[in-house]
Amino acid sequence: MLRSLLFVLTIFSQIIFRDDFFVVSLTSKTCSAKNQDCNMAEVDGAHPKLFMLDGIKVGHVQEVKLMEGKIHQMITRSLRPLLFEIPDFLSKEECEHIIKLAGKKGLHESTTLPDPDDDIAYSDEEKVEHCKNLLSNDRGSDGKISTLEFAAFIKQDFAMSISDADVETMLQKVNFDKDRDGLISEKECLEGNHVAFDQYMRYLEDNHPRERTRLSKQTWLSVTGSTDVVLRDLQQRVKLLTKLPKYFIENSEDLQVVQYGVHGHYHAHYDSTNEWNGQASRCCLGNYSDHCSLCRFMTVLYYLNDVTDGGETAFPVAEEEHINQTEIEKEDRTNLSIHC
Ligand SMILES: *[C@@H]1O[C@H](CO)[C@@H](O)[C@H](O)[C@H]1NC(C)=O
Ligand SMILES: *[C@@H]1O[C@H](CO)[C@@H](O)[C@H](O)[C@H]1NC(C)=O
Ligand SMILES: *[C@@H]1O[C@H](CO)[C@@H](O)[C@H](O)[C@H]1NC(C)=O
Repeated sequence: MLRSLLFVLTIFSQIIFRDDFFVVSLTSKTCSAKNQDCNMAEVDGAHPKLFMLDGIKVGHVQEVKLMEGKIHQMITRSLRPLLFEIPDFLSKEECEHIIKLAGKKGLHESTTLPDPDDDIAYSDEEKVEHCKNLLSNDRGSDGKISTLEFAAFIKQDFAMSISDADVETMLQKVNFDKDRDGLISEKECLEGNHVAFDQYMRYLEDNHPRERTRLSKQTWLSVTGSTDVVLRDLQQRVKLLTKLPKYFIENSEDLQVVQYGVHGHYHAHYDSTNEWNGQASRCCLGNYSDHCSLCRFMTVLYYLNDVTDGGETAFPVAEEEHINQTEIEKEDRTNLSIHC
């Protein structure tokens, strides 16, 4: 569920504990709906400000009343990003109920790759779109994509980490680097074999499950409009907790239920895109068109069960004063197999 924020770096192995729950967020000015294409006049007029919880300091405990007959404790775990833990947010029965609902719906492997059945030739328009997307990773602003930038693109769009050798093999196979200078220009990208690219990515996924950024199964449960009492209660608690306008809570993303098996994981990643290039639409208010740019204000993670080993969430750059994305990538700090 929910609108999350920028600095959510998460990992789990196996499904997660039962009790705890985190709210993570950054300042609303970093990612507000304002000035972006979810800037619907009536929403802005009615809700000029997003409410921001106050963490006070790490370790601070606040009491919150979210339901009849119970006071929850909200413990500040970090200020940058703002991160809270709320023990017993859901009861054991509620967790079991949600697991059951997800099971009924059917869990599917979490993947970011196109469906193999869609393996038809790409239209020129799609190629242009892909290449624009790829070229938007041109951090060096030289009009070309280097191996490092390419790996960052794969990580972001395909949720996979690949080695320099993998990148090189792939570039040769898909012919994205015709002049063999180790850089991809827009022209080379447009002339490359996009179907071969997808096939190669699938091959990597199938053959290196543990090397994936993400290894899990998932499904989505819609909360808004659901007649399920547990889901409705949960949404009510989130409203009271976040103090966000009902409108935003009800138009948040569905509840994503994720199962991490043995070796399952999700390496550190951003839950929201912090920049809006003015081209892609913002994924917001229920409008999740392809290639939209995620603008989550807050993420709520519920831990539905406990396991003897693993199951934690890591925030590798929490509380760091200066965060240099290039350095993070160079040191592979998002790879929690190395850093946890
Ligand atoms: C993470 O690091 C491990 C150990 O070095 C490596 O085997 C794996 O391929 C890396 N995974 C990713 C996604 O980079
Ligand atoms: C959803 O986003 C697309 C792409 O920007 C836009 O064309 C469409 O009008 C939006 N739909 C709604 C209901 O806002
Ligand atoms: C980030 O680190 C790289 C070196 O890895 C350096 O070249 C770059 O200037 C740094 N960026 C900022 C904004 O400090």
